[in-house]
Amino acid sequence: MRTDFDPAELSSGQFYRLLNSVVIPRPIAWVSSTSAAGVDNLAPHSFFTVACVDPPMVQFTSVGRKDSLCNATETGEFVVCLAGEPMVEQVNATGTDFPAHLSEFAEVGLTPEPSLRVAPPRVAESPVTRRPVRSRRTRAARSAE
Ligand SMILES: Cc1cc2nc3c(=O)[nH]c(=O)nc-3n(C[C@H](O)[C@H](O)[C@H](O)COP(=O)(O)O)c2cc1C
Repeated sequence: MRTDFDPAELSSGQFYRLLNSVVIPRPIAWVSSTSAAGVDNLAPHSFFTVACVDPPMVQFTSVGRKDSLCNATETGEFVVCLAGEPMVEQVNATGTDFPAHLSEFAEVGLTPEPSLRVAPPRVAESPVTRRPVRSRRTRAARSAE
């Protein structure tokens, strides 16, 4: 039996939870960014994907206005680092709400490795990292907050 859901009849939080539970499985990426004040930031994102292959671009979706989004908007730079299953503890630890002046790298014991062309470091423990060609922010009309 099929069940229809009308987004207009659900709160944004309810629809977010619905999407979260049906669009699966999702790989997890750490988004690394550096604030204008120079503090490195790291946060896991499952809403990320390849946005374009030529030029090669990746994107992440911030559900609400978070430090990763603020940093990427302010500096135009972020790095996506894939997080494998053995890193699940550190993924969850970086997903908690650290104050903006603290770096998640240091707080959870991950190693910041200098990136080749952008300021935000990559995660040394990550098997694959990708810097965006150019950071551009697109705002959706509504986002669960
Ligand atoms: C596995 C996992 C996946 C997550 N995916 C997202 C996501 O796609 N978008 C988002 O806004 N938050 C996501 N979060 C929550 C953020 O990582 C969390 O709010 C974090 O504290 C944001 O950090 P920031 O303020 O430094 O950007 C995820 C958390 C976890 C543990």
